[in-house]
Amino acid sequence: MDDASEGPRQLSTDARAVMEALNADAAHLSIWLRTQANAPAQRPWFHDTGLDAAGHIAPGRVGAGQMKAVPHHWKWREIYPYLEKIGRIASEADVPPVEFADRQQFLLTNPGLGGRLQVAAAIRCAVSIYNPGDLARAHLHSPNASRTILSANGGYTNVEGERCEAARGDLILTPNGTWHDHGNDGTTPVVWIDTLDWPLMEFLDIIWLDEEFPGKTGNARVQATQKPPGYSQSLYGRGGLRPSFMSHQRGIGLNVGPVFQYRGVDVRAALAAMRGETGDPYEGITLDFVNPATGGPVFPTLNYGAQLIRAGEETALKRETSSIVCVCMEGCGQTEVAGRVFDWEENDIFVVPNFLWRRHVNRGAKDAVLYTMTDAPLLEKIGQYRAQGTSGGKVVTIGP
Ligand SMILES: [Fe+2]
Repeated sequence: MDDASEGPRQLSTDARAVMEALNADAAHLSIWLRTQANAPAQRPWFHDTGLDAAGHIAPGRVGAGQMKAVPHHWKWREIYPYLEKIGRIASEADVPPVEFADRQQFLLTNPGLGGRLQVAAAIRCAVSIYNPGDLARAHLHSPNASRTILSANGGYTNVEGERCEAARGDLILTPNGTWHDHGNDGTTPVVWIDTLDWPLMEFLDIIWLDEEFPGKTGNARVQATQKPPGYSQSLYGRGGLRPSFMSHQRGIGLNVGPVFQYRGVDVRAALAAMRGETGDPYEGITLDFVNPATGGPVFPTLNYGAQLIRAGEETALKRETSSIVCVCMEGCGQTEVAGRVFDWEENDIFVVPNFLWRRHVNRGAKDAVLYTMTDAPLLEKIGQYRAQGTSGGKVVTIGP
């Protein structure tokens, strides 16, 4: 952030008002510029250990009425200018948004959900910008969260003392119950996509958040780095080999993996190595980011994947009871969802809500890469995951 000695700011203390005005301007794009901090419905589970036998109930939030997510496509060229504007406010205002809103970001709002801060039933998605010098203080919470890095490089997330330097295509995880802080100590702004299972936790009324990081100096804003660079990769970075001398538990997170960073370069190399395979008729070439301790999904609720849609490839129609959020990391293509056609290109984000038929098409000359996030693990656990596809003009069941 700018040094106060550099002269008068272009904006004074009206940063919040400027953000609200931008919000009115951006509403037609189904994004909401974050102008206030999170309001978790519950107090910190571990820090707040007082006995309140009288039954104090924290102010919670519940939805009204029944609503249904719809397919939607957020075009990067339309939404990115608002991120630039947030970044400009952050660098020029006396009070940068990160101070009063916790983050400099906009959240994606599914047009079918009446302005709720979610893209699907269980998934929240935001796009954040960190200017040089920005930081988000150390905290811990019940939702699982991730960062999909869009910038070429720059910015970091420190998770349980492991500093994860961000580069494009990286997936950085902050599982439930892990202390984490974010920042940018580089010279250029950095941008990433945040994905969380927040709406699910909110629905279940089990959101809690703790900002009282027990650092050496008390309520530290950031964690000290305690692990060497690439710690996750040094332990788990060779497929099929798992350290057996140590616990895989990190932090106090439950049912989550011990790897906090998956490298974009590794993901791309893995997809390239499999390019010659036949692939799945409904998905093309796909891989999952997994918890190496179990082989299961990285979070108990969400699965993350990467998908290669090869030049000239057209997948068959498929539908699932789970919802999918897709981010185009490379190339361009089309996805048909319930009769609509999304023409996507780099950094575009789109959502395919549950039950809707969809297929991917790449008519271009170059391969395309999508990153995907779905709530399939959650549905599998409650016996509700089902998938169907089309084969020979008939609807067939996929899987058991
Ligand atoms: Fe967080």
